[in-house]
Amino acid sequence: MNKRIEAALNDQIVKESSSSQFYLSMASWSENQGLNGTAKFLYEQADEERMHMLKLVRFINERGGVAVIPSIEKPPIEFSSLENVFNSLLEHELMVTASINNLVDICLQEKDYTTHNFVQWYVSEQLEEEAQARTILDKLRLIDGDKGGLYMFDRDLERANIQPNVNAAN
Ligand code: FEO
Repeated sequence: MNKRIEAALNDQIVKESSSSQFYLSMASWSENQGLNGTAKFLYEQADEERMHMLKLVRFINERGGVAVIPSIEKPPIEFSSLENVFNSLLEHELMVTASINNLVDICLQEKDYTTHNFVQWYVSEQLEEEAQARTILDKLRLIDGDKGGLYMFDRDLERANIQPNVNAAN
């Protein structure tokens, strides 16, 4: 495997892993605030990010490279509000998108069209995740701290059927 591509993919593993930890911490915080629907949604997001990481690990190894499993960095444990949680989540996703775009650039520079094709899945995924985070933030702005609104928001997130696509890791 091209060493520059291998390094860039391993760097992406670090980012997906840190996303998973970050969202896990957000889920745990939400659970402790009594926001069980939000917690459920964020636990699922954390699982999904782990799947994104795993997909990279498998791809690197299958292509003759060596996937490096990163150490776990401690994410923040306190959040000032739900808006703060989802603003942080969107900010984090924007950072991941920039990293994916950089990966696409490197694939083109190195003329690695197989990896380029593989990375397209992440390009689509980022579009969806950013849109989802923006929709949630729009809802929170509408609610504007209203307790009844927040109750319904949390209930809606609990019902949201946003399951990690486990098959995508194969
Ligand atoms: Fe896998 Fe949401 O970045």
